Amino acid sequence: VNGFYHLGELPSREIERLVARALALRDGARAQRFEGRALGLLFFSPSLRTQASFQRAAGLLGLDLVQLQGGAGGVWGIETEDGAVMDGANAEHVREAAAVLGRFVDVLAVRAFPRGASLAEDRRDPMLAGFRRFAGVPVINMESSRWHPCQALADWATLDLLRVPKQGKLVLTWAWHPKALPQAVPNSTVTMAAQRGMEVVVHRPSGFALAQDVMDEARALAAQNGGSVVESEDQACLDGAHVVYAKSWGSLEHYGDASAEAEARASLRPWCVTNDWMRRARPGAHFLHCLPVRRNVVVADEVLDGPASRVIDQAETRLHAQTALLEAVLSDLPAGTNAARAAGAARTSLDPNPVLELKR
Ligand code: CP
Repeated sequence: VNGFYHLGELPSREIERLVARALALRDGARAQRFEGRALGLLFFSPSLRTQASFQRAAGLLGLDLVQLQGGAGGVWGIETEDGAVMDGANAEHVREAAAVLGRFVDVLAVRAFPRGASLAEDRRDPMLAGFRRFAGVPVINMESSRWHPCQALADWATLDLLRVPKQGKLVLTWAWHPKALPQAVPNSTVTMAAQRGMEVVVHRPSGFALAQDVMDEARALAAQNGGSVVESEDQACLDGAHVVYAKSWGSLEHYGDASAEAEARASLRPWCVTNDWMRRARPGAHFLHCLPVRRNVVVADEVLDGPASRVIDQAETRLHAQTALLEAVLSDLPAGTNAARAAGAARTSLDPNPVLELKR
């Protein structure tokens, strides 16, 4: 595995191998050790689960950790546009930032949410694209404008853990939220469930469709894997679901326009998952959410604290899935640490006699 941007880029057999390894690690298998290698974690956006689970995975794998935050007091503001005249707020270009970090670590993981101003810009996923282009080491997407593949990989493992049938019914339901949230999680959820071969329903109000290319890809993956993908505004689509997966997301029709978005969702507060919703699903159905979740806004306490909720198991699976992912990425790297290779290259090209140089 050479980097990880979008789950749908991995063949199903590779995902199944990673999921099996994640569940073996959960059951107590020992992680491989990669002493002397280093993992970089770069967060331009907040996180609890992703941050904690990658840190813990690094410890289990014997990795050195280089962790950096964006924003005030963190790394320099990073420019992503080619040819930019950098006389604004950003002090460093991604060309240098990515290339320098790539000299210090063997694998680099980056989280960068959409700016939310321009749909065209966010669809290009400029920060992840820049790091993938210039880091010179495998880059893992810890949630970008477009995708949250680590969540999707863990969710596939959670579905296997819960013994949800491969062709079971998963309803991804929109829920009300005071803000227009990004689409990375719903995009990744719908494509993951489709690739797993499930009967996928996107339950969402009018005006809150996911991007057409995401739905097209999900339908193609479903067709290849014996599943299906439909959309519905009707609560009856929850009937018989094995899994109800809740998530809020913003309207693409009002992207970057907060007042139009607020107006579009003003009447949608009843889109909150309650026990009445869950009673439509099959007995023993599971409730999932990637977290963080707003109680009694997105989902009622009665569901989140009830027997259907598996959100804590779901979050735990992040650790095992990412440990399996890092094992796969690191196992495919050439011998020697990146830092050692970089230092060796520097000595070879710049300093013909490093021993003498050190003695000076
Ligand atoms: N689900 C998830 O990615 O959680 P965090 O945003 O807390 O990392």
